[in-house]
Amino acid sequence: MKARLPIAALLTVLGTVGFLASCASDSGSSGDTNNSSGGGGGDTAAAKAFFVSKVYPSIEPSCSKCHATGEKGAPVFLASGGDASYNALEGATGLIADPSSSPLVQHGLHSGPALTSDQGDLVTQWLKMEVTARKLTGDTGRPANLRAAFKAFGACMDYKEWKQLGLDKIPLTNTENEGQCVSCHIKGQASLWLSPNPDETFIKFTQFPYIQRLVVGSVNPSGAFDSLQNSRRMMDKGTEAQQVNANSHPRFALSPTVMTNITQFVSDTLSNMNAGRCQGVTQPDAGK
Ligand code: HEC
Ligand code: HEC
Repeated sequence: MKARLPIAALLTVLGTVGFLASCASDSGSSGDTNNSSGGGGGDTAAAKAFFVSKVYPSIEPSCSKCHATGEKGAPVFLASGGDASYNALEGATGLIADPSSSPLVQHGLHSGPALTSDQGDLVTQWLKMEVTARKLTGDTGRPANLRAAFKAFGACMDYKEWKQLGLDKIPLTNTENEGQCVSCHIKGQASLWLSPNPDETFIKFTQFPYIQRLVVGSVNPSGAFDSLQNSRRMMDKGTEAQQVNANSHPRFALSPTVMTNITQFVSDTLSNMNAGRCQGVTQPDAGK
């Protein structure tokens, strides 16, 4: 409560860490995935051993506080100790998946921290072992992975509809007592880019990582990327802050109209994208 001021200052730092972590994907780890030459079962065991000995000790201090307990409404996918956490992760849908689609790697800064780049490297290395051992693929006939789907969604967002629905006004929304969203999110802090310049804001929303504040990937039971859905982050964030014990994000409420319109924009864009109707979309430059 008392330490409000440093938040805005810390944002830049936090945003950078989150960005670096989400970029730390292909870090030359394939050598380790191949070093168990035993049977198929041996690969799964090696992946589990790697999780228990390397990954869990690295992420436990940053993530267990909420994700082993459900504190602050966090989904529970860890437990106490490496073995129990591995079981919990196996039970959670879609977390053990290719690093390009696993929310563990992709979630970034949220009410909790993003993975540091060291943590991100370990988690990526481990998930690659799991993908090999479990023979997981992303072969669904839709965009091959989460990144490809984000790209397709961004390319299908229509600026004209965005403005007609009034979504260009979101950055100027007031929080209860800490000013407008732009005052903290003007340069993409916490992977949310809300600038007073509507063209710039829209363009950023079409790009990763900012696009995640509109849509999030879901995965099928075998862990492969399945489809995009409304991530509701701007719709839910202001209310989550009102829960007991919630994070210190300033409270806000988007108007019911804006919430309905975000939902409509996301579902229109998804159905156009899935039907291949993206040719006519307008971009900020087209209006000039
Ligand atoms: C202060 C509490 C807190 C901490 C610490 C925390 N988280 Fe979270 N996490 C949440 C909450 C609340 C949600 C649900 C809302 C959201 O998605 O942001 C969540 C959601 C997630 C999700 C989405 C799960 C899903 O099934 O879609 C992932 C993945 C995640 N966190 C990863 C992490 C990782 C990795 C760490 C450690 C680096 C971490 N979190 C630390 C509170 C926390
Ligand atoms: C006083 C500074 C401040 C203002 C004003 C502010 N935010 Fe944030 N916001 C933050 C900080 C700090 C984070 C990262 C920590 C967190 O998630 O609570 C964040 C993160 C977020 C996230 C991403 C994390 C998640 O859980 O998905 C969303 C979405 C968000 N803010 C929405 C908004 C909206 C919409 C507004 C305007 C109505 C707004 N914020 C105004 C400081 C601010």
